[in-house]
Amino acid sequence: MMQFKRLSDVDVKNKRVFIRADLNVPQDEQGAITDDTRIRASLPAIEDALARGAAVMVTSHLGRPTEGEWRAEDSLAPIAQRLSELLKRPAPLIRDWASDASWQKTLKPGDLVVLENCRMNKGEKKNDEALSRAMAALCDVYVNDAFGTAHRAEATTHGIGFQAAVACAGPLMAAELDALSQALAAPKRPLAAIVAGSKVSTKLTVLRALAEKVDTLIAGGGIANTFLLAQGFPIGKSLAEPDLADEAKALLRDFPGKFPLPVDVVCAKSFSADAKAEIKDIGEVADDDLILDVGPRTMEALMPLLMSAGTIVWNGPLGVFEFDAFAGGTKALAKIIARSPAFSIAGGGDTLAAIAKFGVASDVSYVSTGGGAFLEFLEGKELPAVAMLKARV
Ligand code: 3PG
Repeated sequence: MMQFKRLSDVDVKNKRVFIRADLNVPQDEQGAITDDTRIRASLPAIEDALARGAAVMVTSHLGRPTEGEWRAEDSLAPIAQRLSELLKRPAPLIRDWASDASWQKTLKPGDLVVLENCRMNKGEKKNDEALSRAMAALCDVYVNDAFGTAHRAEATTHGIGFQAAVACAGPLMAAELDALSQALAAPKRPLAAIVAGSKVSTKLTVLRALAEKVDTLIAGGGIANTFLLAQGFPIGKSLAEPDLADEAKALLRDFPGKFPLPVDVVCAKSFSADAKAEIKDIGEVADDDLILDVGPRTMEALMPLLMSAGTIVWNGPLGVFEFDAFAGGTKALAKIIARSPAFSIAGGGDTLAAIAKFGVASDVSYVSTGGGAFLEFLEGKELPAVAMLKARV
C-alpha cells in the first residue's frame, strides 16, 4: 500500500476542512448533469468530515474556464445543488472565495459550503504560490480526494498541500490508488487499452508511453482520425489534430501492429442528434463529412482482440454516444468488455457516462473516476498530487 496520510487518520473535530474533490461531471447543452458518478464517489469524504464535527468546504474544477472570469456555464451551481440533494442538507455556493475570506466568519462545525469552480481563480492552473497560501489559510486540514485531477499540478491539487497545516488523502483518492496500483502492478496479458474521446492532444501525447506498456492500443474519436489522416485517408471535417499527424505516423512506424485502426466509420454532414448517419469505408469519407463513430466492421475486427485479452483498460468513448445514431461503436465496445473474461478497468468522465448509459457498470471489474489521471498512472508516471501527499506524511 502507498504511504500517505489518510483523512481517517486525522482528528477533524471543530476543524475547518478543505476538500478538493473532482466534481468535473459531464453536462448537456443546458448544463444538466448527464452522469453524477464522480459526485456520488466524492460523498464519503464529505460525510465523514461532517459526521466527525468539521466545518467542511468542498471545491472542484468544472471544465476549463478562463481564470478571473465568472460565467454561468462554468459555475458549480448545478453540482452544489446535486450535492445538496444527495446529502439532504444545504450546500450553499460561495463565489470569489479565495480573494476575500470574510465569508468564513459564519462558517461553523457541521456546516457544508461549496466553493465556486476553483479554475476561476487566477493562478490555479499555474500552481501559483500566493494563491496556494491564501487557500491554505482557509483551513486547518486540507484533503485531496480528487483522483481524477491528480495528474495536474495546480494550486488546489498540489500547491495548497505544501502550505496547509495538515494535508491528507480522502477516501476516494486512497481507494483509487490502492486499487489501481494492485491491478496494474503485474497485469494479466495480453493487455489491451482503448484510448479515445474528444480530448485529443492530452491523450496523443500519452500514447507513446502507453504503447511501450500495452500489447494492443485501440484509438478512437479524434485520436483515430489523426491516425487515419497520418495514413493518408480522407477525414473530411472531422475532429483531428493535423499538427500531430507526424507523431501519429511515427507511432505507427515504431509500433507496427499495435494500433488496430478503424476500417469503417459512421459519418454525418452535421454534428447533431438528428443528422443522417451513413456507414462508410475509411477511404470513402467525403470532404463535407464528419466522422462521428466507428463502423460495425471495425467492431467485429476488434472483438477477438478484446475477448482474448487478459486485461482491458478503457478510457474514452469511440464515438458521439450521446446521439443514438452515433452510439453504436461505444455501445458495442461496452458490451464486449462486459462479456470479455479479461480484468477490465474503465475510467474518465465520458466513459463513466457511457458505462451508465449502456448498463454495464456491474460487468466492469473496476470503474475509476480518473480519466487522464488513470492513463498517466498506467503509464507509470508519478502523479503530482500523489507526490505531494507522499511528501506530507
Ligand atoms: C478529467 O475529467 O479528466 C479531470 O477532471 C481533469 O480535467 P482536465 O483534463 O480539464 O484537467
